[in-house]
Amino acid sequence: MSEEAKASSGNAEPTATRSPAPMWIIVVTLALLFLGFVFFDKHSGWFDAKIYAPYSSPEQLEAFQPKSGAAAAAAQGKKVYEAVCGICHGVDGLGKPGQAPPLAGSEWVITKGINRLAHIPLAGVSGTLTVEGKEWNLNMAAMGAALSDADLAAVLTYMRTAWGNKVGEVTADDVKKVRDAMGGHAQPLTGDQLKTMPE
Ligand code: HEC
Repeated sequence: MSEEAKASSGNAEPTATRSPAPMWIIVVTLALLFLGFVFFDKHSGWFDAKIYAPYSSPEQLEAFQPKSGAAAAAAQGKKVYEAVCGICHGVDGLGKPGQAPPLAGSEWVITKGINRLAHIPLAGVSGTLTVEGKEWNLNMAAMGAALSDADLAAVLTYMRTAWGNKVGEVTADDVKKVRDAMGGHAQPLTGDQLKTMPE
């Protein structure tokens, strides 16, 4: 037997051939990747859901905002105002014809101090009262007398900073001073009586 014949009869060098990766490995890899992404997305990855989760309403987002100091007082003031005063004066502070005068832009609200202003909800008002050049002649009971110093202060802060009003913050201590000086039960005041009081 010749050399050539020997080589072709079984002792040939082994050769490597390229064959494509099996289809199932590709499919399983893609499926795992996809599930990984879904899991990552569902669990906000490593991000805090409070910050990165999609919110469906501004209120939902608002609930996560930290509240302290002036912002907390204003939020509390808005709540109490809308529950106790807004019924007559309107949640927009624009008042209601025949029911209550406006607070937005009112010279009774944007006073320098709060002495005169605090007397209004603490004592009530009756008789003629001019607000922004318009005369009113109705009555308001002491709508704020039952509120705590802190709540009334929050309401006054809200009234003095909402609807375009831009005057300072009112503290519970400010309200307490006025309430203490009034000493117990007070009669409703007229516009003229209020005008004689220091702001
Ligand atoms: C039942 C309706 C009613 C409610 C509730 C009410 N008010 Fe009044 N308010 C009036 C009326 C009416 C007048 C005008 C009284 C008058 O003509 O003598 C008035 C006048 C005022 C004024 C002075 C005038 C002005 O518009 O600036 C202020 C300030 C005021 N109210 C604040 C408050 C606050 C604060 C609350 C809640 C704690 C409140 N009111 C709740 C009816 C109401």
